[in-house]
Amino acid sequence: MKKSFSAVIILVILTAVIAAACSKSENKQAAPAQPIKAEETAKENPFDATLVEAFSKGENADYLAGSHLKQGFTCTDCHGETAVLTDNMNEVNTTCENCHGDLQAMAELSKENYPDKEINAHESHLTSISCTTCHSAHTQSFPYCLNCHTFSDMQIPFQSSVKPVFQADNFNVYENVTPNRVDKTDIVVIGSGGAGFSAALNAMENGAKVILLEKMPIIGGNSQLAAGGMNVAGTKYQQAQGITQDSPDVHYADTMKGGRNINDPKLVRYLVDHTDDSLAWIESLGGSLPNLSFSGGQTYKRVHTAKGGTIVGAYLISTFYKKAQEMGMDIRLNSQAVKLLTDNNGKVTGVRVHAKHSGIYDIQAKAVILTTGGFGANNALVGKYRPELIGTTTSNQPGALGDGLILAENIGADFTDIHEIQIHPTVALNTKILISESVRGKGAILINKEGKRFVNEMLTRDNTSAAVLKQSGRSAFVVFDEALYKGWGQIEGYFKLGLVKEGNTPKELAEKIGIPADTFANTIERYNTFIKNKKDEDFGRRDMEKPLNGKLYAIEIAPGIHHTMGGVKINPQTQVISVDGKPIPGLYAAGEIVGGVHGGNRLGGNAIADIVTFGSLAGKEAAKYIK
Ligand code: FAD
Ligand code: SIN
Repeated sequence: MKKSFSAVIILVILTAVIAAACSKSENKQAAPAQPIKAEETAKENPFDATLVEAFSKGENADYLAGSHLKQGFTCTDCHGETAVLTDNMNEVNTTCENCHGDLQAMAELSKENYPDKEINAHESHLTSISCTTCHSAHTQSFPYCLNCHTFSDMQIPFQSSVKPVFQADNFNVYENVTPNRVDKTDIVVIGSGGAGFSAALNAMENGAKVILLEKMPIIGGNSQLAAGGMNVAGTKYQQAQGITQDSPDVHYADTMKGGRNINDPKLVRYLVDHTDDSLAWIESLGGSLPNLSFSGGQTYKRVHTAKGGTIVGAYLISTFYKKAQEMGMDIRLNSQAVKLLTDNNGKVTGVRVHAKHSGIYDIQAKAVILTTGGFGANNALVGKYRPELIGTTTSNQPGALGDGLILAENIGADFTDIHEIQIHPTVALNTKILISESVRGKGAILINKEGKRFVNEMLTRDNTSAAVLKQSGRSAFVVFDEALYKGWGQIEGYFKLGLVKEGNTPKELAEKIGIPADTFANTIERYNTFIKNKKDEDFGRRDMEKPLNGKLYAIEIAPGIHHTMGGVKINPQTQVISVDGKPIPGLYAAGEIVGGVHGGNRLGGNAIADIVTFGSLAGKEAAKYIK
């Protein structure tokens, strides 16, 4: 059934008016630098007369809420009679969906109405997203995708042209605030990435009552973006491909060598000995990672990923989220942890939260698990530890600002390896889009502006990045053929994003990307001879299975900040260690916020292994502790 353009606009407008109706600061994620005003601690009343007046005829009347009022809707149509808004993830979408249908219905509608558009925002790679993430009600709207992408034709009603600013804060302003209420639970998990979900689910499976806090308007963090896969050694999937020699010991040796041997050996040992349990747990939740690829510095193919090149992180987060919903997990969005509460003995007793709808409130808890991820998107903090990286692009989500480090440091936690920051060699030039290592793992090569290979493409990331940065223009091209990418969802996505140049022959591609055609054609021919002879005479690459034939493709790339290996110090029970060397009672941590697992350089696929393995352990250990 075809709908007219105006009907779509009205539907899109109607999609958004729910929960944000009591917020005056939709795009503000960072804690304010100014002292806290009394009203910010209070939960706002969406039926407040001044607010309603503003949306009826005041300066905000042209926003989504005002537009609904003009059409005859009332505040209660969206907020309900009692106006209960709690930042609870399950609550936010209900009213929008009642009128407009869910995300999938909206995606279908967009397809019907804009059949020629490559990008369908309602069908984005982000797992589960509330309407109000993009469609604000009481302020101008900002499409969430534009935080990372630059789609020039993406337009939504009442759109702001100003990009939100995400900043970290030292959180001092929250010290002497009176919270508007106190909630109680057993365990608070801060951060809804893979480590957070693994911790929260395992804590619940072990009998604990859990609240999962997420400061962004969507779940998933950097985990949701994970593209390549998860390292596990000695699996049935490897056996099926004839890889019979891999084992936790080989995985251990690769991880330590890749990390320049500064990793914490106890943490690495726990990791490699338990990744198979983590994979089994994922499978018990209905997930499956049967495909394999290589990443730099690995002896064997052990990066496990989902079928058809589905982005592994989004796949895992939706698997975890589905289970969380089944278990009735209390997930709160737009809810930033701003202070860890402690008693006189330094024991952690809960968390202070600044939430979009609920204001500033406290949660009393018997234990807290920090799973707030890394700080790759906080260029000021990156620059503090590595000044040469100031201004470098990042593959990270905008909320990866290191909040957890600041919260932990404020109560005396110690850090380890904090200067160790990973630069990924292949971020699409002038973007934040990671070109996954799995593209090279599947057989792509790197070519410089002179049309030549310059490195073994499967070295560890520190070495490959250093090699790219030595090339003219400090960039290079990832080159692949049709056989490599067809049917592999992730690479097909790069085409949709307009990042790929193509040529029917090597010479044609060379002309398109402005490199010497004859040299490039010779490079391809020489590389294919190496494949035939099973020997890379130039750079000693080992994983050479397929020649590059027929139509060729290229994406220009440059290195970008990707992973922060350093972070809070933990012991093998995931307890956070203080500067005086003792565990901080009641405080656990897992995932990218933790230092020590990856040493000086993380191997591709080891972070997903880390966050699921140590996230699960933190959930179990915290559940044990509270008993
Ligand atoms: P995250 O997933 O980042 O989650 C942390 C969450 O905490 C975020 O949602 C954040 O908003 C929230 N948060 C932060 N502060 C607060 C606060 N104060 N209050 C409330 N919430 C807060 N690794 C692999 O092993 N394989 C891969 O294929 C892979 N691909 C990647 C691709 C990309 C583009 C990127 C960026 C990383 C990739 N990585 C990969 C690395 C890996 O994804 C991350 O290291 C890992 O997902 C981190 O998980 P986490 O749960 O620790 O943190
Ligand atoms: C990638 O796919 O290149 C990222 C994998 C990782 O960071 O482990």
